[in-house]
Amino acid sequence: MIIEKLQEKNIKEFCDLAQRIILDLSYYSDIAKKNYAKSFEVKEIQNKIKNENKLFLSAKNNNKIVGFMYGFFDNTGLFWIEWIGINEENRRKGIGNEILKFLINYLKESKKVHKIVCDIRTSNLPSQKFFAKNKFNKIALLKNFWHKEDFEIWELTL
Ligand SMILES: CC(C)(COP(=O)(O)OP(=O)(O)OC[C@H]1O[C@@H](n2cnc3c(N)ncnc32)[C@H](O)[C@@H]1OP(=O)(O)O)[C@@H](O)C(=O)NCCC(=O)NCCS
Repeated sequence: MIIEKLQEKNIKEFCDLAQRIILDLSYYSDIAKKNYAKSFEVKEIQNKIKNENKLFLSAKNNNKIVGFMYGFFDNTGLFWIEWIGINEENRRKGIGNEILKFLINYLKESKKVHKIVCDIRTSNLPSQKFFAKNKFNKIALLKNFWHKEDFEIWELTL
């Protein structure tokens, strides 16, 4: 397994995987799926990848992307994970853990960040378990937030 920054030549493969994962999620409303899938169109990612405040990681197995993480640095020392996803047949094999481990090392070395933050739907129990296992703490509940769904904010202090 190789975890690396997303390469320009892999953007199409990256977008296809991200959209497939999003459209298959049972706990997303149709409107949420549509909006999230749209944010992973090739042109969008080609633009975002050039922005130094954004970070895209891919996990490759035998040269094929099987997982990813996308997030951004804000200007207060936080790194926000926008999305982490592993293709369905490769879940529970430790790939998500490996991506987070890579991210944490990368952010520690960058010295720009003191906390990682993410929001998770209250209905997304696998993801809550995943972040709890990786020592993130739940710090807030946001009722009626994105697309009128309830979310939790989780954080990890570096
Ligand atoms: C959440 C997600 C990224 C986890 O990735 P993963 O590679 O499957 O996770 P790992 O194999 O590294 O799991 C690490 C630990 O997290 C916990 N965990 C992960 N998935 C879990 C699940 N479905 N149920 C319970 N615990 C889970 C376990 O403690 C696991 O360790 P274990 O397998 O030794 O028990 C993956 O389930 C996913 O892509 N989900 C769909 C997309 C999504 O909802 N993304 C999050 C948006 S906030």
